[in-house]
Amino acid sequence: MKILAIVSQKGGAGKTTLAANLAVAGQLAGEKVVMFDLDPQHSLAGWANGRSAAPAARIIDQATKLMQGLEVARREGFTIAVIDTPPAVDSVAAFSADASDLIVIPCRPAILDMRALAPTVRIVRDRAKPAAIVLNACRPSGSSSDEAVAGLSVYKVPIAPVRLTYRAAFQDAATASQGVQEFEPKGRAAGEVGALWQWIIAQL
Ligand SMILES: Nc1ncnc2c1ncn2[C@@H]1O[C@H](COP(=O)(O)OP(=O)(O)O)[C@@H](O)[C@H]1O
Ligand SMILES: [Mg+2]
Repeated sequence: MKILAIVSQKGGAGKTTLAANLAVAGQLAGEKVVMFDLDPQHSLAGWANGRSAAPAARIIDQATKLMQGLEVARREGFTIAVIDTPPAVDSVAAFSADASDLIVIPCRPAILDMRALAPTVRIVRDRAKPAAIVLNACRPSGSSSDEAVAGLSVYKVPIAPVRLTYRAAFQDAATASQGVQEFEPKGRAAGEVGALWQWIIAQL
């Protein structure tokens, strides 16, 4: 079982959006996917509760129970686990990062978001774990995201070559408890998520 931890101290960066959409992408690619929601707000679990199809989400209310939860999932035959975390760099983020094969860090291409990334990047550095920054909610023109790539290079964390654009489909799909690939299979958001999944799976 390969484990993705979605981590960022910044609220609204797109952790839950990424967790849900990557989980659906994995499922559509034939993986058996389970999600773990470690955020007390339970946004991911709420999203999962609104659907009848897999992937399901399991709530973990204490970071120390994560390893056990992952072990159970491994025994159940899941091939991918996606962990969503609260907007904090604390023991929850640390446990999640420790457990993961890849730490995924969503970041909006805006200066305040980029500056706020330092404590999150430290989590990666302290562990020498594979990690990737995923630019999320980018402008369709791409110009601001190109600048962001240059600005983020100081962190020396790989930046995924696939970016997610700011699109209504991400919000509309969430309302329907779907991934964008389910909500609008031929849409641009679906194309971006599919390409991002391909890139991420190649890093694992
Ligand atoms: N690429 C995107 N396009 C449009 N809206 C987005 C995008 N990514 C996230 N959002 C919206 O931004 C808000 C915050 O995203 P969320 O995934 O909840 O962030 P986090 O979990 O990091 O706090 C949500 O309302 C979500 O629907
Ligand atoms: Mg969230």
